[in-house]
Amino acid sequence: MAIFNLPMPSTVTICLTAIIGLLSLLLALWFIILKPKSANYLKLDASSHVVITGGSSGIGLEIAKNISATGARVTILARNVRKLNAAKKEITGSSNCGPVSVVSLDLAVSDEKSYKTVEDAATKIVSDYGAPDILFNCAGTSLAKPISESDFSLYPWLASVNYFGTVAATKAFLPHMKSNGGGRILITSSGAGQIGLFGYTAYSASKFALRGFAESLAMEHNEQDNVFISVAYPPNTDTPGFEEENKEKPKETRLMEDEAGLYQADVVAKGMVEGAKEGRYSIYWGVEGWMLATVTGGMGPCDSTADFLSQVCLTSLLRFIGMFYLMDFRRIVKRVRRDGK
Ligand SMILES: *[C@@H]1O[C@H](CO)[C@@H](O)[C@H](O)[C@H]1NC(C)=O
Repeated sequence: MAIFNLPMPSTVTICLTAIIGLLSLLLALWFIILKPKSANYLKLDASSHVVITGGSSGIGLEIAKNISATGARVTILARNVRKLNAAKKEITGSSNCGPVSVVSLDLAVSDEKSYKTVEDAATKIVSDYGAPDILFNCAGTSLAKPISESDFSLYPWLASVNYFGTVAATKAFLPHMKSNGGGRILITSSGAGQIGLFGYTAYSASKFALRGFAESLAMEHNEQDNVFISVAYPPNTDTPGFEEENKEKPKETRLMEDEAGLYQADVVAKGMVEGAKEGRYSIYWGVEGWMLATVTGGMGPCDSTADFLSQVCLTSLLRFIGMFYLMDFRRIVKRVRRDGK
């Protein structure tokens, strides 16, 4: 018997495929449950220095609190001086925390001149406190609006804050980190950097851009110079920024996001800290995060044999499951169009 003129696979082929599938499933489970610590694990102590962009609120602030508890020095970069000082107070509120310094800086760069201010700030920070052991790129913002309702300026604005801001900080600190013997650089993409959703033509594009940036960067800098790149795909997270964003969010976007649930900022922060210390390339949360990371793995670097095998064996199955999500999203768009906003 033949389907599409292809011969039926033999019993041996079927059995082998089943065994490989089962083995990779077990390996994936082992990896998810036990999470073996990588050999590149970076331990932080009072002599360490960690720089966090967007460290005055949301996930960045939670990361700052977590790092500070190890006794390491934390430098947070953000625009608003009042928010920076409030954040410093909050971080240093608990005992045994390391020193915290704040630097007011606009990371929404778009040309050589505005990049220069970031580079100068980085040079100053490094000469004051030393090169960072980890750079967390958390500065970012979001605004959901369909293209037909948004100004063109939304696109360069989100690109400059989310994408160019991360490129600028990374480019400015990287040479210092390299000459200091290496470090970790975390790039914050988003679940919306793995799948495009209604209302996110500007936001998703900036977050997809970060994936391409991270993937290339990880090829330029890796274990050979002890610089490890991580890219995080945080889900919807309960932060002041998310709350602000929700006020104007299109109904379609909100309904789609409701299906994914809401994570607490400290949970997301812990995942980023752990992933960056381990030097893991891909950082995600929960079963849905793992599914999305596996099905969108593409040609990105793999963190383990288990990850590689589960991508090889499970991508087609996850793509199939993913169709049900997409069908749901289509229904939402249709329904809102029919019933009005
Ligand atoms: C910081 O995050 C790590 C995970 O990377 C976690 O084990 C630890 O408990 C956190 N520390 C604090 C003070 O939240």
